[in-house]
Amino acid sequence: MTPTVAPFPAARLRRLRRTPALRAMVRENALSPSDFIWPVFVMEGTDAEEPIPSMPGVSRLTVDRVAKAAKRAEALGIPAICIFPYTPQDARTEDCAMAWDTDNVANRAIRAVKEAAPGIAVMTDIALDPYNINGQDGYVVDGEVVNDETVGALVKMALAQARCGADILGPSDMMDGRIGAMRDALEAEGHRDVTILSYTAKYASAFYGPFRDAVGASGALKGDKTTYQMDPANSDEALRLVERDLSEGADMVMVKPGMPYLDICRRVKDQFGVPTFAYQVSGEYAMLTAAAQNGWLDGDKVMMESLMGFKRAGCDGILTYFAPRAAELLGA
Ligand code: PBG
Repeated sequence: MTPTVAPFPAARLRRLRRTPALRAMVRENALSPSDFIWPVFVMEGTDAEEPIPSMPGVSRLTVDRVAKAAKRAEALGIPAICIFPYTPQDARTEDCAMAWDTDNVANRAIRAVKEAAPGIAVMTDIALDPYNINGQDGYVVDGEVVNDETVGALVKMALAQARCGADILGPSDMMDGRIGAMRDALEAEGHRDVTILSYTAKYASAFYGPFRDAVGASGALKGDKTTYQMDPANSDEALRLVERDLSEGADMVMVKPGMPYLDICRRVKDQFGVPTFAYQVSGEYAMLTAAAQNGWLDGDKVMMESLMGFKRAGCDGILTYFAPRAAELLGA
């Protein structure tokens, strides 16, 4: 479409901006609580929570409090909650066996949410970093993150989560071949309708710092994740990854981080037209919240503006720590 621009004064583009009613009539995008997936951090214990200093306003919750959060999400019209476990350093191991234990804290949280708020979808995270002694998403052998052995462990993790009732599996590890391997294993065990929202275009980003504090991986992490997460300089590669993940059986794809990668969201949506999500990650939350706390930005306004940016870029939904606050404002 080539826009034709009439000469002034035929075209006074300010005419349609003059009143709230006119602006509402021509508004191209809208946000709704149904656009959000709310990531929450779960820890051992009961009826307790622990604030995460680098994410003001976000706390790790015990399983019973995650169930309460799920009820709150349901009441606010948020369709899905995503569960991330906190693991202290002394509970991390080299074989990461806790990752596929159906009684680990994340899997107990899945069951608790399904019971407390059956109307909302439960999403999981699949990667070894919350359990790994070295904080990497995969097994490390001779200093290298090994692909195929890691995929074997991720498949066990996926099956355990499916058995606990997860609706959406979220492989965030960036190993090759994991989507196909999970899809085959899910079919073989009868979990035909469990969906996969693949972290497809996940970049090696410095914006994940506060998240690593939240799950207890900051101290653990040795080295970086540049041999499996994407180079922030790349864009065409994201399209190859989307094509690959869809062909292996992903139902939905994700771009991560969010705000610095809206161009990737738009390219993915335009080229594939599939359900496309973005993750507004911990560092994005932290920078907006920190500026708001200093009085440098209007917190609610920059939150809503940043979320609208994802819709304008073509996203069908956004994983965001702002989900409950934004849903409250939208419902008010
Ligand atoms: C780990 C994982 C990460 C995030 C989600 N899953 C961190 C990482 O890759 O190091 C980041 C989310 C955020 O920063 O909010 N598999």
